[in-house]
Order: sequence, then structure tokens, then C-alpha cells
Amino acid sequence: MQHKTLKPFPKDFLWGASTSAYQVEGANLTDGKGPSCQDVKELPAGTASLDICADHYHRYKEDIALMAEMGFKTYRFSIAWTRLLPNGTGEVNQKGIDHYNDVINECLKYNIQPLVTMFHFDMPDALDKRGSWSNPDSVDWFVNFAKVMFENFGDRVKYWLTINEQNMLTLVGPVIGTLRIPEGTTNVLKETYQQNHHMLVAQAKAMELCHKMLPDAKIGPAPNISLVYPASCKPEDILAAQNFNAIRNWLYLDMAVYGKYNNLVWSWLEENDATPEIHPGDMEALANAHPDFIGFNYYSTATVEASDGNEKEGGDQQSSAGIPGVYKSFKNPNLPRTEFNWEIDPVGFRNTLREVYSRYHLPIVITENGLGAYDKLEDGRIHDPYRINYLRQHIEQMRLAITDDVEMMGYCPWSAIDLVSTHEGIRKRYGFIYVDTTDEKVGTLNRYRKDSFYWYKKVIASNGEDLD
Ligand code: BG6
Repeated sequence: MQHKTLKPFPKDFLWGASTSAYQVEGANLTDGKGPSCQDVKELPAGTASLDICADHYHRYKEDIALMAEMGFKTYRFSIAWTRLLPNGTGEVNQKGIDHYNDVINECLKYNIQPLVTMFHFDMPDALDKRGSWSNPDSVDWFVNFAKVMFENFGDRVKYWLTINEQNMLTLVGPVIGTLRIPEGTTNVLKETYQQNHHMLVAQAKAMELCHKMLPDAKIGPAPNISLVYPASCKPEDILAAQNFNAIRNWLYLDMAVYGKYNNLVWSWLEENDATPEIHPGDMEALANAHPDFIGFNYYSTATVEASDGNEKEGGDQQSSAGIPGVYKSFKNPNLPRTEFNWEIDPVGFRNTLREVYSRYHLPIVITENGLGAYDKLEDGRIHDPYRINYLRQHIEQMRLAITDDVEMMGYCPWSAIDLVSTHEGIRKRYGFIYVDTTDEKVGTLNRYRKDSFYWYKKVIASNGEDLD
């Protein structure tokens, strides 16, 4: 549809940006915090360690003041499980509760609504040692953690996200440093989807608990959604796109919204003797949970063709070779790429929004979207026109989606402030706020406003009208 008149962004649209605890806070073993899987993993060569990051743990006041200066209506951050429960279960660490109370209160001081991610890639190490998500008890561990958060922060936090990018934990866990496969496992696919099943049930129970304990709050999932295009109009390529759409995207949202396993995924798992064991009560729990909105991270689309049976495993959140018998990745010739080789597809953002809304009919909040680049600090300034351009194009497409009658609640690019990437260090910067530090050496950690900071401030002040 080529619209002649654009609809405006909703009046109460939640403009903001995102971070995650293990990538931004530092202080990873301070004030009683226990280690998470991120703190014990082997770091990718040449990347910053996680004990300092952007030192947001100590500088959150300065950072939130800068977010307020940009005019944020919301700040999406995650709560580190091991700050609240150093061993994942058992004793609560009061200093961890105090810290997040301070962060939440600081946001509210500026009328910034906290949008809290409950779990962002940081399984407590103590629970990893007890089998991580392979252990059926992981459902109760997570629900208990959710209860601690709802009890302590639920009077002020109105927006909750369950599990960040559960689909990436399942598809590329080793790259992010999360997947634990118990020794002696013979069918890794089955074990992986057993873990995935436990996460799905944990999410469903946490959503139900949220509605019971906090009737005024809203909660939703936060997968990474990329619409999958077929490489051509060959019927076999269309089948491959349907396959990967199901495995990458719809499995997670069908389950969150409808409480049902996607049929294409289920038949693929059956074929590989990899269907998860379903414990009594699981399907009821899944069917009883209803998100209030859908949160999703969008970086780019994916393009695939029919499998030739020789695809190799691997890749990261936005890239992979394929899965034999399912799909083969295809380099989309129509799309430019970032310096870190991720495709850029703003129109694909609109395509994805339209598809998600027409499948699920729930309001959408974008929980991540952004461009990782090598920024340069020169005379106290950071000129990042490439980031402004990327964000501008995506906001334009979001507005077109709004005009298509897609119900949008908010937009939180990745990231509010520079932080350590999942596997490519702090040199891959995403923030509106530059942090003076490198992978090789901890710097002054001083904050600088990038050009995109001033630009985003104007965007927010004009409620998305002024994108120049
Ligand atoms: C998402 C994650 O996959 O993308 C973030 O939710 C991550 O944690 C972001 O940082 C960007 O990816 P990367 O690999 O560049 O850090």
C-alpha cells in the first residue's frame, strides 16, 4: 500500500532505548552478586571483560539523567538474576534489591517508565551447575525469581518482558555464551528443544503470575524476529522460507500467544527424534498464559533458499548457513550491510511489523533495533551519521506500519549507551551515549553525547515528526 497521508505516532508512544545488565553494568561480582554464565564463560578473543563494561552499576544516575535529557519516556533494562538471588534460588541479596529500587526510582523521577527484562542471557552459574534449563526444576527457579521481582518492584514497574531472545538462546546459544548441554548427551537437538520447552513453560507461568500479583501491569515476550524471505519465487524456496520462519520466529510467538506448538517445528522435531518431553500440566500452563503485548528485537530480515543438504551449523543472531533439509541461507543482493556484516533492511522492518500484527493482533513494542559500528571520539564529538540514517529509515518504516494500522506501543533502539556486544566486544558500538573505554584498556569511562543523541532528542520532542 502506498499511503498518501501518514498517521501520527500515538500520543503516549513510549520512545526510549535498551540495555542489558551483563553488558552494561560491570561490577559483576560486587555487593553480593553471584556469578552468571556470562561471568564464567571464556570470552571471545580480544573483547572487553565484563567486570567494568560501561560501569552503569555505579553511574546509572548520570546515565539516566542523559536519557532524560534526550526525552526518554521509557528505559528498557534487565535485572541481573544473580544480583537478587546470588545462587539463583534461596537467599535474597538485599543490596541487589536496593540497587534496582534506586534505578527504578531514578527513572520515575524523570517520568521515565521502566520496561524491565526479567532475563537477558545471564543464567546463574549455580543453576547452570544444576543442569540449567535442562532441569525441569528450572521452571520453578524462574517463577520464584519472577515472584521476587514482582514483590519488590511491582508497585512501580508497569511493563515487563519475560525472556530476551529465547529463540537466539535456542538457535545460537554457544555464540552468546549460554547453551549448556549436559555431558553424555547423544541427541543435542532434542536436549536443546527440551531446554526451550522449559523456558516456554517458565515464561507462561511468569506471565500468569504477573497478572495475578500485578493486575495493572503489562507483560510480554521479547524474541528476535526477522521476517524470512524466499530467495526466489521457486516453490521450493517458498517452502524453505516457511520452514525457517516457523523455526526462527513463529514457534516462539505462537506459543506465547496461543499456547500451541507450531506444526512445522513439531514435525521437524519429530523427524529428528527431538520432540521435548511434556510434563503434566505444561500444556495447560502454556494455554493459560496471555501476553498483553508483543515485544521484539529487529535488526534485519533473513533470506533463504531450498536446502541442498550440505549446510553447516553456526552463525550468530542475524546470520547462519542453514539447516540441512530445512533451509539454506542466501545473501540478499538488495541489502547493504553494516561494518559487522549484518544486513540492513528498513522496509523489512515494516514487512515484519505487518506480519507479526496480522498473526497475533497485539500491540507491539520494539525492544531493540540498531546499528553496531566503530565510532570515533574526535575533539569530544562523535559523528555517527550512519546510525542516524539507519534509525531514521527504520522509524519512517514504523510510521508506515502505523499507517497500515499496526498497533505500536513503543520503540527502544539498541542501545541507550555503549556497552559490550554479545561476542564482538565494545568496539561494536550501538549507543546514543559514547563511553570512553576500549576492549584493550579501561578508559576514563567518561560519557559523551554522539550526534545521534541530539538527533534522537529532536525525534522524541516532535513525537516522530522531525526526522531530519
Ligand atoms: C541482541 C541481544 O541479540 O542483539 C543483545 O538482545 C545484543 O544482547 C544485540 O547485544 C546486538 O548484538 P551483538 O551481537 O552485536 O551484541
